[in-house]
Amino acid sequence: MKLEARDLTKNFPRGKRRGQIFTAVRPLDFSLASGSLAVIAGRSGSGKSTLLNMLAGMLTPTSGSVHVAGAELYSLSEAARSRLRNEKIGLVPQGHAALRSLTVLENVLLPSILYSHEPPPQQRALELLELVDIASLQDAKPSELSGGELRRLAIARALLLHPQVVLADEPTAGLDADNTIKVLELLRGAADAGAAVLVVTHEDEATQFADRTFSMDAGTLTAQTPPANAGQSA
Ligand SMILES: Nc1ncnc2c1ncn2[C@@H]1O[C@H](COP(=O)(O)OP(=O)(O)O)[C@@H](O)[C@H]1O
Ligand SMILES: [Mg+2]
Repeated sequence: MKLEARDLTKNFPRGKRRGQIFTAVRPLDFSLASGSLAVIAGRSGSGKSTLLNMLAGMLTPTSGSVHVAGAELYSLSEAARSRLRNEKIGLVPQGHAALRSLTVLENVLLPSILYSHEPPPQQRALELLELVDIASLQDAKPSELSGGELRRLAIARALLLHPQVVLADEPTAGLDADNTIKVLELLRGAADAGAAVLVVTHEDEATQFADRTFSMDAGTLTAQTPPANAGQSA
């Protein structure tokens, strides 16, 4: 299983009366293989989140296609796309995305509640909370968490249903060195267990966990030479 994007672009209207067009993502092909971890590094404003959100089924491209599990995301109805996304894609969005009225544990369990008729995988949720080191906060509300703890909650939630594709937007933003490594090891572990994982970042710690690295600059994606440790799991 993998994700495959072809000729993907995104333009945004800009300027006075939105008469001009700003190209955030220039035509690119990108694919993500099962069992591997790719990192896209690039500075702020280079188009990383725009690309990731298109890959995640969250932002309609100006042109091009994104295939996940044999389906083209933007040819599906909104409802079918949401269902596929929830089932196959674990998304760690940029910033904070916890529901304030739910506890930490309930927030992690959210993907299982949306469409599933099965009992929620409580044990898996608790294991993930342990792995990201916030198990003691399981009954707290998101408003009681620090920024770094909220990031870790988002990662636990994204991995809950063992998604085939994991897309993480700046997953280690605001984390200390220990937790940065912990989170990257967790994402590496998801890849080793068979997921296709993409980490988008403006930092460079993540590249040492990657099989492939890319850089993004002004909407253009360029493949870098593989890091020395690539192949450790290939
Ligand atoms: N909804 C939007 N409308 C207009 N411009 C946008 C929108 N989203 C992003 N952009 C612009 O696209 C560019 C890339 O943004 P983004 O993908 O968020 O970059 P990155 O994640 O690399 O920091 C930026 O110049 C940003 O201002
Ligand atoms: Mg971004």
